Amino acid sequence: MTTPMTDMMTARRTALNAMADLPEPAAARRPFAGVRVRLEDHLPPHGARDIPPGLVTAVADRLVRDDGTHGAGAAVLTGLSRSFDLPAARAFHEALFGRVWDEVNRRSGPQGPGDHYRIKVNVTSDGAIPLELYGSRWSFKQLHMDRDALLFSHLYGPAAGFGGGTLRLVDIRTYMRRRALRFDDLFEWSREPTPGSKPVLRAEHEGPALGECGIDLGRPGPDEIVYVNNFPGAGVLHGFTPVVPEDRSSFVREFHRCSVKGVPSC
Ligand SMILES: [Fe+2]
Repeated sequence: MTTPMTDMMTARRTALNAMADLPEPAAARRPFAGVRVRLEDHLPPHGARDIPPGLVTAVADRLVRDDGTHGAGAAVLTGLSRSFDLPAARAFHEALFGRVWDEVNRRSGPQGPGDHYRIKVNVTSDGAIPLELYGSRWSFKQLHMDRDALLFSHLYGPAAGFGGGTLRLVDIRTYMRRRALRFDDLFEWSREPTPGSKPVLRAEHEGPALGECGIDLGRPGPDEIVYVNNFPGAGVLHGFTPVVPEDRSSFVREFHRCSVKGVPSC
């Protein structure tokens, strides 16, 4: 994928518009069935020198949707606290993301960016995000696709002093195919302080889409890593219920994020 990033909005609209015409998958499953991967099934209790290849495959199998795997488009790796404290978990997260991305990119064929991509790793503190960059001190909560990222993963923690903040995913590809819906039937564009926007599910469609094709994964914490296939054609939306600070003195909600986006080839 060598699409200039200024065209990612077009790529997302086009892909979402095409979902009504997709054929029924041969091995249709309930959206997000089997989304979880247990780290203990792949890693000794005290970690391993190298990332186990079977773990990379297990996560990628859940993320990739169109290579015959019929993955959910998301994966939740659980059980990190058994092997890692938070700094070690972040290091493991970053190392595993690179391996998972290599596998997802390889399986994506011409839909993927090939060698033209950039991986970004950062920590975001909810409630303290630079206003001038994002227009809000809080991470985006409505059900949406990120604009540029093709794959991302989050590891939450420390997290304390608030209620809400449960993670919700929607398989909007299945929802649009079943109901023959197009982009304009469901989506609007986010309002951003910087150029570009992301597709946002209109509020009146949240309930039906969540009920039929969604999952609430609860409040994520330092025991798990959440991966989302955010390719335009994957059709996976993510969002959070509102975060409600309950104890300002102890409030903290950080997440360590790994993401990758395609970059134009020269
Ligand atoms: Fe997002």
